[in-house]
Amino acid sequence: MDIINKIGEMQARSEARRLAGEKIAFVPTMGFLHQGHMSLLKEGRNRGDDLILSIFVNPTQFAQGEDLDAYPKSIERDLGLAEKEGVDAVFLPDAAQMYGENYQTYVSLEKLPNYLCGISRPTHFRGVATVVTKLFNIVKPHVAIFGEKDFQQLAVIRQMVCDLNMDIDIIGGAIVREKDGLAMSSRNAYLSQVQRQSALCLFYSLQHARKLVKNGVNETEVIIQSTREIIESQPETCIDYLMMCDPVSLESKPMIQGPTLFALAVKVGNTRLIDNMILEP
Ligand code: PAF
Repeated sequence: MDIINKIGEMQARSEARRLAGEKIAFVPTMGFLHQGHMSLLKEGRNRGDDLILSIFVNPTQFAQGEDLDAYPKSIERDLGLAEKEGVDAVFLPDAAQMYGENYQTYVSLEKLPNYLCGISRPTHFRGVATVVTKLFNIVKPHVAIFGEKDFQQLAVIRQMVCDLNMDIDIIGGAIVREKDGLAMSSRNAYLSQVQRQSALCLFYSLQHARKLVKNGVNETEVIIQSTREIIESQPETCIDYLMMCDPVSLESKPMIQGPTLFALAVKVGNTRLIDNMILEP
């Protein structure tokens, strides 16, 4: 497995693979890999001849006061897991190289970032779209895989790839959950034992919503109110948002008609967790 730090070296390697007719599959991450990332790598392994993983904790997607400095790291462990998953190359740049002193170019979308996580994190998706564009220009993939847990991120990237005519297939990987239902996330590592238990309310809320819909409830406000109670009954929880919206435009919907995204973000202690599910009437 190649470990590459330099942007130019990564570009040259990818160019050579392309010229050799190989299909490049790419999984961008911020490291501290878990089973969710492993499933994206498996998907990538099936889709490409050359599988590339990037590990970069991207400063531009964190706002002041967020967890950039605290973000968990485990490079040695990540490299071991990557090797096991059959990764061909890991791209590990540093921030000084990705954002030079005179850095001044950003990619931002007009509409999709105005919903869900974008409301409490107004600069987040600009940072994500920018770094993903840069990584695409460096890794030159044919196909890239992103987790569906970050549903809005996936929507933003699909839109960006379409709008900017990037010739890259974007694949969504299903949410991977712990045995008890908690969606896998690097940030789960921040949770105390009590918080870890409280955090299950995200998954319970999704299940509860699905049951209500199955029983014929279709007013989204009724479902949201009922799940709000589940979350607020748990210690150390603070709801950021509970939203039922169109899975493509992300605009909120008053009724469940057609597939509807139920997305939620909840702070458990200081840890902000997200989850989602598509509800079908
Ligand atoms: O989902 C993530 O881990 C990050 O947002 C990404 C896509 C690697 C960009 O930094």
